[in-house]
Amino acid sequence: MCASWGSENSEEHKKISRTYANLCIDGPTGTDSMNQKPNRASRRDFLRATLAGGAAVVASPALAAESNPANLPPNVADWTKMLGEGVAARAYGKRAKTEEHIVRRDVPWLTASPQSSVSFTPLHQIDGIITPNGLCFERHHSGIAEVNPTDYRLMLHGLVDRPLIFTLDDIKRMPRVNRAYFCECAANSGMEWRGAQLNGAQYTHGMVHCVMYTGVPLKVLLNEAGLKPRAKWLLLEGGDAAAMTRSLPLQKAMDDALIAYRMNGEMLYPENGYPMRVVLPGWEANMWVKWLRRIEVGDQPWHTREETSKYTDLMANGQARRFTYLMEAKSVITNPSPQAPINHKSGFTVLSGIAWSGRGRVARVDVSLDGGRNWRPAKIDGPSWDKALARFYYEFDWDGSELLLQSRAVDESGYVQPRKAELRKYRGVNSIYHNNGIQTWHVQKNGEVENVEVG
Ligand code: MTE
Ligand code: CO
Repeated sequence: MCASWGSENSEEHKKISRTYANLCIDGPTGTDSMNQKPNRASRRDFLRATLAGGAAVVASPALAAESNPANLPPNVADWTKMLGEGVAARAYGKRAKTEEHIVRRDVPWLTASPQSSVSFTPLHQIDGIITPNGLCFERHHSGIAEVNPTDYRLMLHGLVDRPLIFTLDDIKRMPRVNRAYFCECAANSGMEWRGAQLNGAQYTHGMVHCVMYTGVPLKVLLNEAGLKPRAKWLLLEGGDAAAMTRSLPLQKAMDDALIAYRMNGEMLYPENGYPMRVVLPGWEANMWVKWLRRIEVGDQPWHTREETSKYTDLMANGQARRFTYLMEAKSVITNPSPQAPINHKSGFTVLSGIAWSGRGRVARVDVSLDGGRNWRPAKIDGPSWDKALARFYYEFDWDGSELLLQSRAVDESGYVQPRKAELRKYRGVNSIYHNNGIQTWHVQKNGEVENVEVG
């Protein structure tokens, strides 16, 4: 899962990946690839894939330039002259063909295998606060488990009065709720700890999604089983080959934790844990166990792999902080960004981005055009729900000069998203997880955008 490589001289390489050593997202299962160098071919594949993605984005003005005059006013366009396809010709809806390039993307050289890897949400190609099901980033430690719902069972045992086994139908008969929450991998932006690295919001910040979950509050299940007085912790176990296990404090389980089976109205997609996953609002996504198989109630944490050697924060002094569940306030400008340059030379420009906080609602987002010297409030449009994504816009007249774009989220607790330099003062540069520092995009005069850091 972790890789390191030396510096590379090609201009093309610098454009996409800006250096350095010891890049690592989150924990590998069974392999230690920390010192493994990716081969040049796979790096080139990534460049090609990324550039292809970029080219597709800038392709829209080009398409407009190649319009067919026969379709333009005052003429009647082709699609007006004939009947279209009938209902149910597309029994399950499809996007317009010209939108099909909008997909999750992975970075093949980042991980040892596609089964223990990640694909990123194309943040620069979507708007609003809800992530479409097919574009939600995925992170698996042993590939996608294909669960047969008829054979699916959820076990609940340990320090309970009545150990229980639920079928999917049992869970669907229970009282349910609908809640939209962001889900962010603790390793999101982890590659950026040592400096600006990956050239695109999809890669620097794309391990986050936000969907409307339907599910049963976990406390309903626990009350059904009856907790013994010594109960203090739960063990959550996944049914995939990684058998992902994390310890969860009972307090969170009895607060807002859900066992979800629907996302945006549909049953969970297999990638996201079909038929059931844990939802822990505001907490690191690693604990949101997918393909949930077992919940054990105990009186202390289990100290599993994912909460000892992984998902801990190695501090500047060499000590590691553990059980750092909460995802602090964070934001990123999604447009413009390296994969979404400004295509007009100057004039009215809408800057857009997302913000979120594990402590609650996003209260405010500020935007800077000059690398953090001056800040102006952005407009949050759409709902700003508890522990969900918020969408912000900032409208300005671009005079065509260079910009250093930044955004800064402030949540309802008053917490202000820190600069990367501030974070590094406390955390050093050995951390991998929980990087919520302010991101800087350098907009050049030609509208192209690059990932940079300012001092
Ligand atoms: N649950 C199981 N069973 N197996 C896994 O590999 N990965 C975790 C978590 N739950 C994982 C899991 C990690 S590290 C993350 S970031 C989230 O699932 C990703 O959820 P998503 O794939 O729906 O985006
Ligand atoms: Co993760």
